[in-house]
Amino acid sequence: MTIESTAPSYAPLLRWIHWTTAILFIIAMLIGLYCGLQSPGTSPRRELLEVHKSLGETLLFLTILRLLVRAVTKAPSMPHDSSAFVRLAAGLNHLVLYGLLVAMPVTGYLFSSAGGYRLKYFGMFDLPRLFAGNQVVAHLGEAVHGVLAWLVYATVAAHIGATFWHAVVKKDDTLARMLPPRSAAGSVNDGS
Ligand code: HEM
Ligand code: HEM
Repeated sequence: MTIESTAPSYAPLLRWIHWTTAILFIIAMLIGLYCGLQSPGTSPRRELLEVHKSLGETLLFLTILRLLVRAVTKAPSMPHDSSAFVRLAAGLNHLVLYGLLVAMPVTGYLFSSAGGYRLKYFGMFDLPRLFAGNQVVAHLGEAVHGVLAWLVYATVAAHIGATFWHAVVKKDDTLARMLPPRSAAGSVNDGS
């Protein structure tokens, strides 16, 4: 049977991790934003922060898995009419997103671990504590986490805005790269 896809897309596991990450990351970001506006020690900030931290650690695990799979699979090429600027902007945006997917959990963890704050994974078990009591690491982690939060808002907004622009204004195949392949012959070409 002919195997022909109208839009090559990322490998299935990468698509699955992308959409799981997208949902969990946006939830973690909104909880972080809300908690940042509440006074320390109050409820529901305390409970929500535990969810925030646990989601962050889950995202770090998913990102490590994703980067390993990404290293051994081939990404689909961008739509042929993409300009050099669009390719560069998309590449930079993805690079910063991957950087944040690692840097946010790591700085958040260092800040909580060194600062002696609660580190229970979804209320089930305590995460190992590195740099316990090291106030320099705690303050550095907190400061970098807070500053990077601004980069998170800007980069995620640009990423979602660009996807919307490609799908609605340009009407090209960019969004299709992250969706199951559409196939004229009911078949699959993952580009991987
Ligand atoms: C992808 C993962 C993460 C994202 C996107 C994220 C995002 C954010 C954002 C946007 C804020 C609000 C910043 C502010 O208003 O100043 C925040 C606050 C916070 N985050 Fe994260 N975070 C992540 C992971 C973590 C992890 C893994 C931990 C700890 C283990 C953590 C601990 C905290 C704490 C304690 C705050 C509250 C800071 C305060 O109000 O003093 N975060 N986070
Ligand atoms: C509603 C939300 C989102 C939509 C509609 C969306 C859509 C897409 C699409 C269509 C692609 C592939 C097309 C391209 O190459 O530009 C993509 C790639 C990517 N997305 Fe998203 N995304 C969303 C949220 C997120 C979030 C929250 C993150 C991470 C924090 C994220 C991280 C990435 C990364 C790192 C890539 C590059 C994949 C690679 O080349 O390995 N996305 N996204």
